Amino acid sequence: MKNNISELANVLNVNLGLEKCVAYRVLSERGRKIYFPHKGILGQSAEARGMEINATIGTAFEEDGTPLALPTVQKSFAMPEKVVQAAFLYQPSFGKAQLRKKWGEKLLQKNKSLAGVKFSEPVVTSALTHALSVSASLFINPGDTVIIPDLYWDNYDLIFCESYGANIKTFNTFVNGKFDVASLAKAMDTGNGKKIVLLNFPNNPTGYTVTNGEAKEICELLTSCAERGSDVVALLDDAYFGLVYENGIYEESLFGLLATAHQNLLAVKMDGPTKEDYVWGFRVGFITFAFKDASDIQLKALEDKAAGVVRATISNAASPSQEILFNVYSSESYESEKQTKYNTLKTRYEKIKEVLAAHKEYAESFSAMPFNSGYFMCVKINGAEPEAVRQECLKNGLGVIMLSGLIRIAFSAVPLNKIEELFERLHKAVKNCRD
Ligand SMILES: Cc1ncc(COP(=O)(O)O)c(C=O)c1O
Repeated sequence: MKNNISELANVLNVNLGLEKCVAYRVLSERGRKIYFPHKGILGQSAEARGMEINATIGTAFEEDGTPLALPTVQKSFAMPEKVVQAAFLYQPSFGKAQLRKKWGEKLLQKNKSLAGVKFSEPVVTSALTHALSVSASLFINPGDTVIIPDLYWDNYDLIFCESYGANIKTFNTFVNGKFDVASLAKAMDTGNGKKIVLLNFPNNPTGYTVTNGEAKEICELLTSCAERGSDVVALLDDAYFGLVYENGIYEESLFGLLATAHQNLLAVKMDGPTKEDYVWGFRVGFITFAFKDASDIQLKALEDKAAGVVRATISNAASPSQEILFNVYSSESYESEKQTKYNTLKTRYEKIKEVLAAHKEYAESFSAMPFNSGYFMCVKINGAEPEAVRQECLKNGLGVIMLSGLIRIAFSAVPLNKIEELFERLHKAVKNCRD
């Protein structure tokens, strides 16, 4: 359980002068808990700036090091005058109406299990981070518990704990190379009451997506919990949706399975183009709701509440991005361009599998955690401190992230011809740390 004032926030509070200083005295509980995670992913990534191989941040680069981009997005910067004019104006707090409709249609296209299912219209947020904040604002009371796997994106701490006062309760992510559904079941087995579960597939940091069987098991588990009388909130962070590289892995969002699972189960889908369409800086995301037998009026009420939080926090999301994205989603070449970029990432994924299979000696330095999707993979370091290994990598022109005691590798950002070298340097770094 994690909800005390963290050490990092405490340093800032002490620096302010605690009760002696008006700026501290007037801080809210939330204000006292917030800090900037300088040592987190962003800080580690800043340290790796200029590295020859930089596998830190979850953006994606072409083989030549330029940002990986869909051609239609690039071309959209020379937009028709009408689009340019619209881009100057405010969008509604709900988001551009045609874009919301288009994203809703895309959800149906990408998730066959949503056929015939009633869900809200997506409300536009300022990307996924903000969608997560909106969900926290709507569903988290201080002291509420959010159940998540122990390998999770570190920003959940700031969003759910520090900003909204939640406690994070983790469960074991993997057992014997598989998703540990039994551990999730145990974490949820706390009697009746509100249960908030946050799931993220493809996952950051592991790059793991559940198999078809595991997806079914998770949904059965959440549904049976709702059936026993708990109110279940399933928060689904689908940031890396669609980037699945193996057969037998669940390619849709769990939202499709959970949307009509039970009257006591609210499914909240948070997704967007940031990672899916390689537009990290656009800051557009969506939040969508569903529950069994929901009426139009109920779904509209949830949309209104989400838009209310948007209005209260950012007023409305960036207009140029929404205009460009609507233009892109209406383009005929969009799907094939997206397939091309998916292939770029999949080829890197396959190369990693090949390199690891060819170098059995790496097993003495590190072992790969299960991965099959997304932007990342993680390795567990054998016989050395992961942070020391990260520092050693930096001395050798390799930037990686140390997170939850693992080394995370963003292969989305590493050209194909550097992948072999990346693992060779990592292997050497571990050996140096052990010697
Ligand atoms: C799991 C996960 N969720 C959400 C986000 C936030 O995405 P955005 O940049 O759209 O706010 C990230 C970004 O790294 C992520 O890895």
